[in-house]
Amino acid sequence: MIISQGQYQNTNGHMQQTYRRRTKKILKKLAAEPCPSCLVLTSNPAARRSLDTNYPYRQNSDIFYLTGSLRHDITLVLRPNTSEPITLIIPPDDKIKNLWEGTPPNMGPIAEGLNARLVRSTSVAETVFKMLRGFDSVFLPTNSSPLATKLRNHLSSLPSHEKRALPSTVIDAEPLLSVLRSIKTPQEIAKIKRATALTSAVLYHISQAIEPGMTEHEIATLIDYLYRLHGAEPAFNTIVAAGKSAATLHYHPGERCLKAGEFVLIDSGCELDMYSSDITRTIPIGESLPEPLRDVYEIVLSSQKAAIKRVKPGVTLRTIHNAAAKEITLGLKSLGILKGSTDKLLREAAYHPWFPHGIGHSLGIDVHDPTPFQDHTNFILEPGMVITIEPGLYFPKRAGKVSACGIRIEDDVLVTKQGHQILSQDVFPKELSELALLLG
Ligand code: GLY
Ligand code: MN
Ligand code: MN
Repeated sequence: MIISQGQYQNTNGHMQQTYRRRTKKILKKLAAEPCPSCLVLTSNPAARRSLDTNYPYRQNSDIFYLTGSLRHDITLVLRPNTSEPITLIIPPDDKIKNLWEGTPPNMGPIAEGLNARLVRSTSVAETVFKMLRGFDSVFLPTNSSPLATKLRNHLSSLPSHEKRALPSTVIDAEPLLSVLRSIKTPQEIAKIKRATALTSAVLYHISQAIEPGMTEHEIATLIDYLYRLHGAEPAFNTIVAAGKSAATLHYHPGERCLKAGEFVLIDSGCELDMYSSDITRTIPIGESLPEPLRDVYEIVLSSQKAAIKRVKPGVTLRTIHNAAAKEITLGLKSLGILKGSTDKLLREAAYHPWFPHGIGHSLGIDVHDPTPFQDHTNFILEPGMVITIEPGLYFPKRAGKVSACGIRIEDDVLVTKQGHQILSQDVFPKELSELALLLG
């Protein structure tokens, strides 16, 4: 299905039940707060690119999660223990706007599915403001939503005699939804699988086309083109980094040419039907790869395998990171870059200059999906979570025998009751010997 952003919404019966169930769960959480609390969420505003043109629209993930709509002008207000617990607010129909942008999808079925009251308002901020009376706290998004900013400013600037009966506390809305969003339903897992399948197919296709002399930019453009051809969008700026460019973590592909005897790192994901994939492969160019580069690749691969092996319910992301870090540390010792007791090196995170990022992150509607955890130590895996496992080794400049390079290998992994399932299994093989056959 090719989605025209802003014009699409999912109103099939099964999904309507899902949105209703999610909204009810959030209402229940609000009702369990120590004082009367409500939640206000809005669509992302359209972002201006230049005079009279906007960036392609992307819906706010929480609004999509709770309503299934991609309309850019929705406000959702949840007020537990009231006669109207769920309200959807949209602006009145605007004939001139519709002439330019097309008629927006009818919100009637969505409101009906949610059991929500549908309100049309010319002044959303005023309408919402009246609805906050009687609540002590309001949960608002921390993103750049102009409505949230307006409400925040208005609440703090009112004289105290007018503040009575209005919320005195504004709370970040993200943690309220992140617990729910971190555990994926079977339907969400199916969507992530479709996104990983598309990225796998695109990376396979690209691997067949890669040859010395192509530029990073050329490859990135082909990848993005293939995503769009299949109704998806790049989930983030596609990274194609040849040779030492790969030592920059979020590198922007440039005019650098692929050279035989180097690696090219491709970190790419697509957003399909609002769910993301995020996969990295580091591919040798040509047949004669220097021994030290092969050694670095093998270290990263064994570290990724050690990490994936440990993915199961009850394990923390810290434990998984440590398993990867141990392989990386042993590898850096074998390269003569680190020296001394492995335990001491691990305690001191001596690997950090060459492996400076975490082992992975949650994946879902957002590429870096929200989790209720502050750090890796309390990020405890549960069935239904989808995480990336992406160790890497980066050498911005030569270290001993290793020339400047960056190698990362990233897969998307579902936590199951029994352990895990690699969702990005279908990407081409990771073993260097098999890669040579594939690319040869
Ligand atoms: N592509 C960004 C990441 O791997 O987190
Ligand atoms: Mn990535
Ligand atoms: Mn990632």
